[in-house]
Amino acid sequence: MHHFRYVGPNLHCESVDLAAVASLHGTPTYVYSAATMADNYARLQRGLAGLDLQVCYAMKANSNLAVVRHFANLGAGFDLVSGGEIRRVIAAGADVKRSVFAGVGKSEAEIALALENGIFAFHVESEPELKRLSHVAGRLGLKAPVAIRVNPDVDAHTHAKITTGKSDNKFGIPLAAAAAAYEAAARYPHLELKGVQMHIGSQLTSAAPFVEAVRKVAPFVAELKARHGIQYFSIGGGMGIVYRDALASGQAAWWDAQPADQRPLTPEAYGAALTPLLQPLGLTILLEHGRFMVGNAGVLLTRVEHLKRGAGKNFLVVDAAMNDLVRPAMYESYHEIVPLHRDTSRRALVADIVGPICESGDCFAKDRQIQELGEGEFLALMSAGAYGYTMASRYNTRALPAEVMVHGSSFDLVNARETFEQMTAQERIPAFLR
Ligand code: LLP
Repeated sequence: MHHFRYVGPNLHCESVDLAAVASLHGTPTYVYSAATMADNYARLQRGLAGLDLQVCYAMKANSNLAVVRHFANLGAGFDLVSGGEIRRVIAAGADVKRSVFAGVGKSEAEIALALENGIFAFHVESEPELKRLSHVAGRLGLKAPVAIRVNPDVDAHTHAKITTGKSDNKFGIPLAAAAAAYEAAARYPHLELKGVQMHIGSQLTSAAPFVEAVRKVAPFVAELKARHGIQYFSIGGGMGIVYRDALASGQAAWWDAQPADQRPLTPEAYGAALTPLLQPLGLTILLEHGRFMVGNAGVLLTRVEHLKRGAGKNFLVVDAAMNDLVRPAMYESYHEIVPLHRDTSRRALVADIVGPICESGDCFAKDRQIQELGEGEFLALMSAGAYGYTMASRYNTRALPAEVMVHGSSFDLVNARETFEQMTAQERIPAFLR
């Protein structure tokens, strides 16, 4: 559920008319609903209420400082993957001490930054990394808290580019080799064994793969608790969101109308399936959801440039492009696209909705049915709060878009649109070309 809905003919985020945001700040602009993020956080907490829970929001999904601060205020820690993300936590006025540091290639400088700021734990992906962690911690006169990422070899049934828990992915240590990796870790003088981690993939739409993975790994976790006194088990992130009926899924009635066997995954169902498996472990359970927390809390506003009527094909050319939201080009992902001003009296149009970038992949939707629209009218690409802005680029020398956060009936610019000067500030013409 989320806080985007039509009030009369106009699409609102909470109590803000999105056309007012587009008019004031221009387009393309990402808009985030603070209430939706808070609801998602609360639902996750409630869904797994029987557990000693620590939610580490995966900020790779959306690392705007306002978003980070919002989750920190709600009590979240963070799942971090770079020195830059560590610095974002600090810049947002939040605490690194409740955060974990993941990733297959942490540099020595990033490890030192995490240690100096009291990171809760490192999520270790390989044996060479154990050696590097112990070395850097020793140099600083500290102990590095670690959890090893185990790869349970479970099929997450998601897009090939975002599945991570199969044995042929680059992530984690196979379950069969994990015991030896813990024994090796225990021998390093500057490591402290703190937990176990797994993450099987992203945009999972059923609880079954999570259940299968937890069932597979739980006996090993219990063994580690007995042998090494570990304190936590991180089951990763990965809970999917609704993309196809994104707007309708903001209403409870839509969920009630879904046949029980086809209902998309909810935090309640996720919690009901997993809590009984996790509770007996008697450990802190870490969650690292990113997409679920922010995906349905954001939209990308765009403006129609032209309606180009081609031979047998219409193209609705908009001012957002694959550089602003790369998911459709990269993962063939579906985003629902709706007009900010709905007019049911207009004829329907079937068109490819495309950006201005010079390549065919710059297409948000193929043969999409939408009301007839003309130049200057606004659209919203739904479910764009996760992996939208964070994956944006400057391709075609297009500035990074603006970001706005809505809170009730007010809204604030939380990231100004980039200027040409900012885009080129670090570039230099060398003397030999002058
Ligand atoms: N934990 C680990 C170790 C991860 O690798 C990830 C995501 C997460 C947590 C958060 O997963 P989430 O809850 O957001 O599914 N750019 C892609 C998604 C890449 C996910 C990478 N890892 C997309 O736009 O679909």
